[in-house]
Amino acid sequence: MTPRVALIGANGHGRWHRRRIAELQEAGTVELAALVDVRPIEPGPDTAPHFTDHHEMLRETAPDVVIICTPPHTHRPIATDALRAGADVLLEKPPVLSLAEHRALIEVLGETGRVCQVGFQALGSTALNEMRRSIAYGVVGTVTGVATVASWQRDDAYYKRSPWAGKRSVDGRPALDGALANPLAHAWMQCLAIMDGDRPVGVELERYRCRDIEVDDTACMRITLASGRPILVAVTLCGEEKIEGEVIVYGTGGRAVLEYPTDRLRLPGDDDFRALPGRVDLLENLIQHRADGTALIAPLARTEPFTAVLDVLNSAPEPAFLGGDLVAEQGEKPARIVTIKGVNAALRQAAERLALLSELPVPWAVGPHRVRLTATPESGLQITEEPVR
Ligand SMILES: NC(=O)c1ccc[n+]([C@@H]2O[C@H](COP(=O)([O-])OP(=O)(O)OC[C@H]3O[C@@H](n4cnc5c(N)ncnc54)[C@H](O)[C@@H]3O)[C@@H](O)[C@H]2O)c1
Repeated sequence: MTPRVALIGANGHGRWHRRRIAELQEAGTVELAALVDVRPIEPGPDTAPHFTDHHEMLRETAPDVVIICTPPHTHRPIATDALRAGADVLLEKPPVLSLAEHRALIEVLGETGRVCQVGFQALGSTALNEMRRSIAYGVVGTVTGVATVASWQRDDAYYKRSPWAGKRSVDGRPALDGALANPLAHAWMQCLAIMDGDRPVGVELERYRCRDIEVDDTACMRITLASGRPILVAVTLCGEEKIEGEVIVYGTGGRAVLEYPTDRLRLPGDDDFRALPGRVDLLENLIQHRADGTALIAPLARTEPFTAVLDVLNSAPEPAFLGGDLVAEQGEKPARIVTIKGVNAALRQAAERLALLSELPVPWAVGPHRVRLTATPESGLQITEEPVR
């Protein structure tokens, strides 16, 4: 029987899921069971039943698969309800915002026997697979470290787009709508995927903001892995010229660079990037998994290291404010853009040297918040307050 798919959170990024469901419905792969949103759905649905309450939808339509595209602080309770109602889940990223939530949801998967795929769509890319294959074949020699650098811009309107925009918490629950946890999360999830199996043991985190927000719009973070190798993350939403998002793998035999948003790859010896288009769609992969057990691309368990780092964001001090002569403004509100002067060069240098901004001659950099991560077979990863040395 054709799997029946419901979508909870049908506005915002949910519109992208609606288009994808429509394409798969056209191909006969899925059937749209229902749309849910607490706000009026725009554009309105043609024929599918729509609800404002997901409990009612689950009771009345009993979908096989539920896509959850609501704000991150609502993910765990809604996913729990969907799994307990007997559905498999495609849960948008960031899946949950703490290790406690991660473990609670893993328990529900065990209890229900259902599965949860997480919306890290770049994990399904041909370019990432080719990068991993090339590393395994030794094209960069022995990998010594990984960095990611991205420089984007967001205007004032971006921070007014939703009630959780730019917030550290909503209704007493973490929301973490910063550059690291939300728009640039794919960048360092790609790095964690490349270093799969080498678990994080420490995080050093520097966060900055140029606006009246509670989270980071600029960050530099070094994740130290059990092997001692670093993942250096240098990202901003207050950038100068755009850096799409590069993942740079350093090795004894050269470096390989993946531009993950555009699926382009440059291996040692290549003159330029080459396009490697194609991504396995996460919903299709989930449907395939249900049919014949095909491995999920982004099962919830795979995101534990990602969520461990989010837990570090929960306990981190407020981002340092950068203003005055350090920044430049262009345009008028709500289209105003703020850029940090010289930020692109600073981020590039951090990625090049696998160094924190505070370890470079960057005058506005502040010392890092340092946290150690430990792991036990019983309880998985956890944060200990003992600082990394
Ligand atoms: N994978 C990606 O590249 C990508 C891109 C953008 C957003 N996202 C993720 O998608 C999710 C949604 O982001 P967004 O930007 O669309 O947010 P949004 O706030 O713009 O939209 C969320 C929608 O969910 C609805 N909603 C909120 N609570 C609800 C509830 N309890 N029941 C039903 N509907 C509810 C809201 O009314 C809203 O229409 C987030 O987790 C975000 O991080 C992922």
